Amino acid sequence: MTALVDLSDGASFSSGFPHEMFTWLRANDPVHWHHPTSRTPDGEGFWVVSRHTDVGSVQRDATAFSSETGNGIRQGGGTGIKDEPQVGVMLNMTDDPRHHRLRSLVNRGFTPRAIGDLEAELLRRANLLLDAVGDDAFDAVHGFARELPSQAICIVLGVPEKDRPQLLDWLDAGIEADGGAIVAPQATRRLREYARGLIADKRRSPDGGIMSTIVHAVGDDGSRLSDRELVAFFALLFPAGAETTRSAIAGAVSAFVDHPEQFVRLREDPSLLNTAAEEIVRWTTPSVYKRRTASTDTEIAGVPVSAGDKVTFWEMSANRDEDVFGNPFEFDVGRNPNPHLGFGWGIHFCLGAALARLELKVALEALIERYEVLLTAGDAEWTPNNRLFGLKRLPVRAIRARTPM
Ligand code: HEM
Repeated sequence: MTALVDLSDGASFSSGFPHEMFTWLRANDPVHWHHPTSRTPDGEGFWVVSRHTDVGSVQRDATAFSSETGNGIRQGGGTGIKDEPQVGVMLNMTDDPRHHRLRSLVNRGFTPRAIGDLEAELLRRANLLLDAVGDDAFDAVHGFARELPSQAICIVLGVPEKDRPQLLDWLDAGIEADGGAIVAPQATRRLREYARGLIADKRRSPDGGIMSTIVHAVGDDGSRLSDRELVAFFALLFPAGAETTRSAIAGAVSAFVDHPEQFVRLREDPSLLNTAAEEIVRWTTPSVYKRRTASTDTEIAGVPVSAGDKVTFWEMSANRDEDVFGNPFEFDVGRNPNPHLGFGWGIHFCLGAALARLELKVALEALIERYEVLLTAGDAEWTPNNRLFGLKRLPVRAIRARTPM
């Protein structure tokens, strides 16, 4: 029996993901009942689903496992351990048919063309960021990984350059705040307030950008997104876009520091960029768990689950499942097939997956083009958040390639 840590406490993640505990759970207690803690103020425990096959089943069955309130079973609900009062408006916290309506409207902004158009601009920005860090040791999070995705999502959302640092500072403070929410309420309030102004601007002056397209999108039933829905979408998209990809890029740099031979392999064979990007999502799994509410009495792998129960599933654990991945604790930029669940599955599959993949490829391209090897230059620090899990600081020294690729 391994020591079980409190999964409702962000501090349990401050020295990295508790992989040992999940390896034990997958083998011995794959549908585990987590008792209530001081951070589940509603006094409820929750299920912890850890195997790939069971995580996939819960993700795919959006009827039995609701992202909203379990078909009206409770007041709050949502996708974090702690109930969210505002479910039913934010895309990821809605069930069909509401989800289908919202998703088909916002999809209109995320066309492959709209995303593809960003490639050259993102590569230019990635190179500018690396120019700025110079040749001494630098923090790969603040110098690189934190900046690129926030630039990307701000371009997508049409946030003017001058406002970007402020939004990112609010978000970072919200993620580090202790209190059990994924992003602390004060930060979410500020983002919402900001969004109201931005949406009003896009209504007045459409600019052809993705956010502007979404503001003006008209659904098949003739409806448009309301201001409340648009504000909620912004408050979802900004953290979803800025944080997860940051963790993936920072985690990639960290993986290359620990596995220099994989960096060399990628430099020598850039045709591996696509499989490398997928492996980075598997390896880092920046959005480590989700929660659903059982909307009916059901079962998971033979374990009875009651209507109204909170069910958490841990993609990070699924992505290390030894029944699915050969050598799951080995970082392998050529891994193929790679059926990771890092972008989710089913109706809530990540809306930004194409953008995230593009950002990862661009970041990798910029790194392998310029550097021969990435070395550690101090201790890494992890963000104390059990959901948006990633590196807060990663000191590295990068040795320039004598001949850039
Ligand atoms: C490596 C980076 C990323 C990872 C690992 C990631 C992961 C995920 C996961 C696991 C889900 C499923 C949520 C659920 O099942 O409840 C999701 C949904 C979502 N993601 Fe991402 N994401 C990433 C990047 C992005 C980016 C860049 C954006 C924005 C452009 C984005 C926007 C969204 C949205 C809006 C949803 C909700 C979709 C829905 O409920 O229909 N994500 N993401």
